[in-house]
Amino acid sequence: MKKKILLIGSLNMDLVIEMKRMPLVGETVAGESLAYIPGGKGANQAYAAARLGGAVTMLGCVGSDQMGDALLESLKESGAEISQIRRSADTPTGMAMIYVNQEGNNSIVVLSGANACCDISYLQEKDTLFAEADYVMLQMEIPREAVFYAARRAKELGKTVILNPAPAPSPKDLPADLWAQIDYLTPNETELAALCGEESLCGQEQVLKGAAKLLAKGVGNVLVTLGEKGALLINRQGEAFFPARAVAAADTTAAGDCFHGAFVVSLAEGKERADAIAFANLASSIAVTRKGAQSSIPAREEVQELVREAACTPLFGSIKIPSVPEWKC
Ligand code: RIB
Repeated sequence: MKKKILLIGSLNMDLVIEMKRMPLVGETVAGESLAYIPGGKGANQAYAAARLGGAVTMLGCVGSDQMGDALLESLKESGAEISQIRRSADTPTGMAMIYVNQEGNNSIVVLSGANACCDISYLQEKDTLFAEADYVMLQMEIPREAVFYAARRAKELGKTVILNPAPAPSPKDLPADLWAQIDYLTPNETELAALCGEESLCGQEQVLKGAAKLLAKGVGNVLVTLGEKGALLINRQGEAFFPARAVAAADTTAAGDCFHGAFVVSLAEGKERADAIAFANLASSIAVTRKGAQSSIPAREEVQELVREAACTPLFGSIKIPSVPEWKC
């Protein structure tokens, strides 16, 4: 029987505007296209995990509007179980304004909308799903108290808890007992800096130090996603670097979400942690070559093809190295 993944998080309709370059403050630039694409960090991760073969149930909230219908329809197509997603009668579906420049980089502004209704009382009603799950994956686009509640409840029940701290809060906004409930904390470099109370962390040495701080607070593993560089796993046994597959990026939106969905699916299949990270790197290397959030998530077969190709290269397998390659900030 497949291990079960409970994905709790946001669902947003993304309004994506492509442009040559981002506007500066006070500047107007010409947009090149506008698209409505299903997104939201939680929904993207659920979509990715389900499309890649996971047994996924999603909890979250959308409005009783057309955007909400479209988001549920998209998620349903991935194979995720959506019947327990709440529909708010009086709050509109969450939205994200996404600017994408010609290098494929983005800037995102999220309007929470109905995501704010994914609260503790709703999660308490779904306690059976917590009990049935093996993995509980969270991000931070729903009310923080709900995230803290979900992590606590999942850990109490002995589940594996994965927290993608995006958008990242400052450490003073996090309860002291949260850290020990997290098996995998998965920030990118910017989020890691925020969690450490720093403005930025520059280069491998500072990233390793930042991760060590969080391990000392009780986190099980810190998995830092490094964009086109790859990912870095730091735990009490040491550190391992997993290089990304080099590709030309079309749009990096949801590449991190794809990584998360692929990682949890692979863990749920009983793969070694290192293999799960390598699988996630390969899945997200496909996502960055495509536009949009859920529209960029690859099918399982596409990732398997890369796994077969990569099987004999250092891109795949357990790579334990004493230090990661130097990089510039
Ligand atoms: O991670 C990408 C996602 O962030 C977008 O789909 C957008 O909705 C925001 O939540």
